[in-house]
Amino acid sequence: MAKVQIKVNDNGSLRVTGDVELLDGEGKPFVTKQTFSLCRCGLSNNKPFCDGSHKGRFQSVVRAPSTETNGQ
Ligand code: FES
Repeated sequence: MAKVQIKVNDNGSLRVTGDVELLDGEGKPFVTKQTFSLCRCGLSNNKPFCDGSHKGRFQSVVRAPSTETNGQ
């Protein structure tokens, strides 16, 4: 299986790239492309996808810790 990448965009969405299946709360799949963006600001009118509503209205910049301590 190909590696899936999720990028936490500065002040915006979660950019998902790879062969993934996105399901709703009932387990039904959304139609997605190989790359798509998920809303993490809560402002999208097209959840769970980002519709650009975050622009100028959401601030969150996160950085992964150094690889020695990453994820622990
Ligand atoms: S992150 Fe883009 S609309 Fe929420």
